[in-house]
Parts: sequence; structure tokens; C-alpha cells
Amino acid sequence: MIAEILEKVDRDKELTPAEMKSLLEISNPSELQALYDCAYRVKAKYVGKVAYFRGIIECSNICVKDCYYCGIRKSNTNVQRFQMDEEEIVREAIWAFENEYGSAVIQSGERKDAAYINMIERVLKRVKKETHEKLGITLSLGEQTEETYRRWREAGAHRYLLRIETTNPELYKKLHPEDHDFETRKQCLALLKKTGYQVGTGVMMGLPGQTMDDLVNDILFMKELDIDMVGMGPYIPHRDTPMGAAIPPYTEEQKQAVLTLGLKMIAVTRIVLKDVNIAAATALQALEHAGREMGLKCGANVIMPNVTETEFRPNYVLYDNKPCLDENSSMCRGCLTRRIQDIGETIGFNQWGDSKHYAKRVRNP
Ligand code: 5AD
Ligand code: FES
Repeated sequence: MIAEILEKVDRDKELTPAEMKSLLEISNPSELQALYDCAYRVKAKYVGKVAYFRGIIECSNICVKDCYYCGIRKSNTNVQRFQMDEEEIVREAIWAFENEYGSAVIQSGERKDAAYINMIERVLKRVKKETHEKLGITLSLGEQTEETYRRWREAGAHRYLLRIETTNPELYKKLHPEDHDFETRKQCLALLKKTGYQVGTGVMMGLPGQTMDDLVNDILFMKELDIDMVGMGPYIPHRDTPMGAAIPPYTEEQKQAVLTLGLKMIAVTRIVLKDVNIAAATALQALEHAGREMGLKCGANVIMPNVTETEFRPNYVLYDNKPCLDENSSMCRGCLTRRIQDIGETIGFNQWGDSKHYAKRVRNP
């Protein structure tokens, strides 16, 4: 049965939702390996065996949102809040550029005040200028107005990540306070497309109450929306959050189960969406030392080495057991370079590594 579905993939036939679900439900180790291998063939065929680095700058943990799962939610008083100044963000972006990362990602908690919007705009202009327009910039700064998205786009950002978190509206409600609105988030994704970004979205896997059907619908949502990039990762409890406090820390067995679910989701997403960019989320490495390489081996083609100054890292912890908190940017670069070479892939140094899907989408709208 599984073999038949995978054969269908190899013949480039579309899968039905029921077939996607069967793949996500695999538990037998040899079938699991066959799924990962199949997804890897799809990846090799559509996007190549190249891992693109995006240096991630976590520039502030100040957040107006209060998501029940996230370690930097507004109500968590156990975090020391920080905001990098303009110079610091520019410096880290230039570090990424000089270290041959084709792109950087600027991520922070959500803020919509004018001072912040202006500051990001200035940073974008400076980074573009100082890197002679050569560094690609992705933003991951939450829900904003059309005007803000447009200004940041014009200042030089060309990709944007905004996870939908889950496409089940009922589950979305359980994960967020009343004033966090699923429809608004969906509209933001539409605005990002409208304002000309390469758009990325994604979900968390293994959320309490989430079903396999939800995950199938998540993949169908991304397909329907014709998104260019995927960033998704396993949910990992954070002890200082309402959701995390209600769940005892994962046992080794649970870690492996959530990791496997995350990898299966990457594999099936690669099989269904084919030519998009898919990130191997850092959260995979919180569950297993080699988690991110495993992500690449089952279909992901993007990795985000942390380029945040070490002193800030302990304050940007969204989930327990986040890796690389004591390391610095050079250490992460060396470490990930070795790990990727060990799995026989090349690294797309000095390349933007844009989503092939995006190129096709703008050629044939
Ligand atoms: N576990 C895993 N991922 C998380 N995120 C936030 N909190 C957690 C958690 N506890 C993810 C969300 C968000 C991204 C920046 O981090 O999906 O979009
Ligand atoms: Fe940061 Fe290995 S990736 S230390």
C-alpha cells in the first residue's frame, strides 16, 4: 500500500488527501525510510541536493502577542526583554554576508509601533547598501499592515515568513487568546503576496489536540495558497507558558515520536509541493542532536544558522532545550558546514537560493 503510493510519487502523479494521510501515519521503520528516500528523490529532482544558509538575526524578544505556546509571549515575566539597536542588527547582517551566507533572516517578537517600523526600514536600506544589494533579506516580524509590508519590501526585503501555526481554526483558538485572529493572519499572507514578497508559511506539528487530518489540511492549505517557502517544526513545550506548564517535559520516547512526526511532515510536504524551499527548523535539533540534518535528508533544503550575538541568545528561547545558546556565530557556521558535508550535500554559499516555485509563479501567473 505505502509502496504503491510512493511509486505514484515517482511517476509524478498527484496524491489524494487520503494517500497523504497514509504517509503521515507510517510507523514501520522500513516504510519510514522509504518515505524519506522518496522525498529526497523529489527534492534532488526539483531543487537539487544543495542546502542554502540563511543567517538568522533574532533582533528583539519584545512582543505584543501572548500565544499560549511561546516562550517570549508578552505575559512571560521570566524573560529579560532586549532590543538590539540598529548598529547591532546591521553588524550581524554584514557578518552573515562576509561569511558567505547568501541571505539573512531578521526575526523578532511582534511590534507595530512607528518607531520600530521605521527602525527596520532604516536597517533594510543600510544592509542593502552596505552589501551592494548582494545579501538577500527575509523578514519574520509578524502581522503588519499592507503599508508596512510595502515599505519594508521597497526598502529591500524580498521574502517574508509568517507561520499560520495551524490551519484548523478551532485549534488556532485554543492556542491563542481571544484577540489573536486566524482570519487576520490569513489576510496577512494575502497582503504579503500582494506586496510582492516570496511568501513562506508553516505550522507546528504535534500540538495537543492536533490530528493527522489537520496536518493533511495544513499541506493542502499551503498548496492552495501557492506559497513559495515552508518553515515548520515540532511543537516543544516551554515551561513558562500556559500550554507548556500543563505538559510534563517530553520523555526520550516522546521526543523521538514528535521528531518523526516533524520529519514525516517535511517529507510529505516536499512530495506534494515539490519545488518550494523548505527549512529544516531549529526545533528539530532541540529533540535530537542531528535533527536538522535529518530534516535535509527527508526533503528540507534550507537551514538557518544563528548569527545572533551570543549574549542575546538565552533571552530568545521560544521552546525548552533550544540549541546553540552558548555558541557564537562562527561556531554555528563551522558546525553546520561539517554536518552538511557529512550527509554529502553542498552548501549554496553566496547564493540567494530563491524558491524555484516563486520563479515559476511569477513567470506564469
Ligand atoms: N515550540 C515550537 N515552535 C514554537 N514557536 C513558538 N513557540 C514554539 C514552541 N513552544 C514557533 C512558532 C512561531 C515561530 C517563530 O516559532 O511557530 O511562528
Ligand atoms: Fe550552532 Fe551546531 S549549529 S553549534
